[in-house]
Amino acid sequence: MTTVKRPSEGLVARAKPVVRWGIGHALPRTVLRVAARRGDLQARLVTDSDRLPTTALHELFDDIRRSGPVHKAGFAHLTAAHPAVRQLLTSNDFRSGVGAPDDRLISRVLRWSASDYLHPVAPPSLLVTEPPDHTRYRKLVTRVFTVRAVENLRARTEQIAHELLDTIEADRPVDLVETYCSLLPVTVIAEILGVPPEQRRRVLELGTAAAPSLDMGLSWRQFRTVDAALAAFDRWLAEHLDHLRANPGDNLLSQLAAAREDGVGLTDIELKATAGLVLAAGFETTVNLLGNGITLLHDNPGQLEVLRQDPAHWPNAVDEALRVDPPVLLTARTSLRHTTVAGVRVPKDAVVVGVLAAANRDADVFEDPARFDVTRPNARDHVSFSAGRHYCLGAALARMEGEVGLRTLFDRYPNLRLLPGATRRATRILRGYERLPAVLKP
Ligand code: HEM
Repeated sequence: MTTVKRPSEGLVARAKPVVRWGIGHALPRTVLRVAARRGDLQARLVTDSDRLPTTALHELFDDIRRSGPVHKAGFAHLTAAHPAVRQLLTSNDFRSGVGAPDDRLISRVLRWSASDYLHPVAPPSLLVTEPPDHTRYRKLVTRVFTVRAVENLRARTEQIAHELLDTIEADRPVDLVETYCSLLPVTVIAEILGVPPEQRRRVLELGTAAAPSLDMGLSWRQFRTVDAALAAFDRWLAEHLDHLRANPGDNLLSQLAAAREDGVGLTDIELKATAGLVLAAGFETTVNLLGNGITLLHDNPGQLEVLRQDPAHWPNAVDEALRVDPPVLLTARTSLRHTTVAGVRVPKDAVVVGVLAAANRDADVFEDPARFDVTRPNARDHVSFSAGRHYCLGAALARMEGEVGLRTLFDRYPNLRLLPGATRRATRILRGYERLPAVLKP
């Protein structure tokens, strides 16, 4: 039987994205731009972080730091201090994500206009749920990503890295992001999740197109592109899960789908949200670790030499790269009650932005913080994987992939040369390279 849509239904369906964009992007974009011109630090960070050269971004971090352990900007509080960021992320006085309380008009309008497909920062995404639901979702996926489980994937990851390098012409200019950094993590996570090889490029394309979904203030065009990618990703994932239910394999998603069937696991939408986030987070960030890491090692040949002399420093080198140029710049929390952070009063329902990248350069914790030093004793104290309940589920996997990816590349091509023309991605919360031209054997 075909269902006939009433004209008003079509109108409502068309109005919803416009309302979503208006409230979520157009309005904040206009307001933040004005505030940024007046020097508001949060507005500058949110609107400019993709355009600022690295040195200017670090100066902005210094400005935030100079304004106190927790700075009250026009629309949110901001912290760049390492202890304050850790306190924020581990405190029970905050929930993850941003947004007005549920009973406010704006929240009701946003709920009305919400899309019916997955969004990485909309419930039931792990990133924005809290216990008891968060505990339930996370418990089902945690064991696949423990340090020990990840070590079992190391040999296969090395093989993938070599296979990718085998396909690159070593004596001609190539884009390392396209040929290596993006393909290594997507191949690994796709194997963990049971995504067939022929679908990986499509998943990568959709993930890359959807990456700005974490950012605020998108233009209408960007918003439409991101929205279409999220919708297509949602459709693809639903089909993929149906397929795995009918043809289960030895992979995480088949196990999750089975747990759901047993009635002990997740609902359909929870399963899709958890699977979608693990998949997308599994490659959209590690690509940045590889690109940022290659650049740091290339630009610091002395450090590469230290690694050559003593390869035991490689794991620490990955943490040092994560500290100096982290793939995720910041995250935010909303206060559940009146509280304090680093002794500064924060009222109920206030948004506090923890600038992870700035906390990693706190001179009270990291000596000479701007220096890239692969032997730094406390490199691992960075907050690039966040902290507390939402600490990155894939941290062990990302560390292993970072180490294998960087080491295999530099062991095989010790004279690798980066060429002019590198460009940063146009994302603001995620920070990495869009293009990294290089010649492997100059
Ligand atoms: C270098 C690479 C990576 C970085 C820098 C990174 C960073 C982060 C950060 C900062 C968060 C927490 C955000 C917050 O507190 O609001 C997070 C959460 C998460 N990450 Fe990663 N990530 C990386 C790789 C991965 C990988 C490979 C996976 C695949 C399993 C993954 C899966 C997740 C998931 C599922 C969450 C949500 C956890 C929760 O909310 O409980 N990440 N990641």
